[in-house]
Amino acid sequence: MSSVRNVILSFSNGIATSVAVQQGESVLDAALAAGLPVLHQCRSGSCSSCTAKLVEGRAGTRAGASSTLLRSEFEAGDRLLCLTEPETDCTFALNYASDAATAQAVTAHAFVDSVEMVASNVVRVTLELAEGAWLDFKPGQFLQVRVPGTDVTRSYSPSSTAADLPKIELLVRILEDGVMSTWLQERAKPDDVLEIEGPFGRFFLREKVPAPHIMVAGGTGLAPILSMIDTIRRKPGRKPPILLSFGCATPDQLFCLDDIELRKHWVSGLATRISVDRGASGDLLSGNPVDAIREDDVTHGETVAYLCGPPRMIEAATHKLKHLGLRPENIYAEQFAPSN
Ligand code: FES
Repeated sequence: MSSVRNVILSFSNGIATSVAVQQGESVLDAALAAGLPVLHQCRSGSCSSCTAKLVEGRAGTRAGASSTLLRSEFEAGDRLLCLTEPETDCTFALNYASDAATAQAVTAHAFVDSVEMVASNVVRVTLELAEGAWLDFKPGQFLQVRVPGTDVTRSYSPSSTAADLPKIELLVRILEDGVMSTWLQERAKPDDVLEIEGPFGRFFLREKVPAPHIMVAGGTGLAPILSMIDTIRRKPGRKPPILLSFGCATPDQLFCLDDIELRKHWVSGLATRISVDRGASGDLLSGNPVDAIREDDVTHGETVAYLCGPPRMIEAATHKLKHLGLRPENIYAEQFAPSN
């Protein structure tokens, strides 16, 4: 029996490329060695950047490796290519075009402009790339930021867009004893220099305008969603109807409500629902941002959804949207799991 498997990687723009994967080799390693444009970052199963859908054949996770995939995602065929070894010849579908990985990750330096508390547990950090430094990113992708004086890095999706460069805005959830949280709260000041690297990730706005968009954000999962809305706003031509459902645990944890309100003036088709788990009053809905999605929100067969927040929110939103008729391939999600 051959120890080499033929693996086909099928990109969303119809381009399919085959690659030979040796026994004991991951699909990602083989694809990168062959020069294929597969999105990736950590190469160790923790970032989800390399997720693809197994559509033919059998492929499992390397023995002893642990992945961030939800069990339901694995059962639905999702695989992290950096941990995946084919058991037969296989075909994987990638939910991005073959030119999506063209922006290569680079390391750059950026100055801190400001650090501002915008909720009881969220700070807005504005950065400016150092002169001569540059990086590009798609709305929704993330950057890695090194905590000064340490080897620790944290991943953040800018709430700003590439059009705002050299300015970059991050929304950072403050965690008790978190390494970045402590630095931001106790030491960060204007003109401090941060090392950032990116872009990474396969969670980014697709060119499916003008299909209706449903965007579900939990906590600082709002950041990439704001970047997407601003990108849509700047695109010429007709804007899609957008429903943004954003929620936090309590009213004091909500943030960027003024920014959201402003966007409703700029994008006429933007509707919003803001919810809190506890303490709702006034216009706030009681419950989580998934509860706020209603049956009649899915009125179009090509509706696309972007979900960003904690794993349980992603799982619940995916389940609900599929139940309401969204095609699984039109649901894009990024888990935000705090790291301490
Ligand atoms: S590259 Fe990060 S999970 Fe595979």
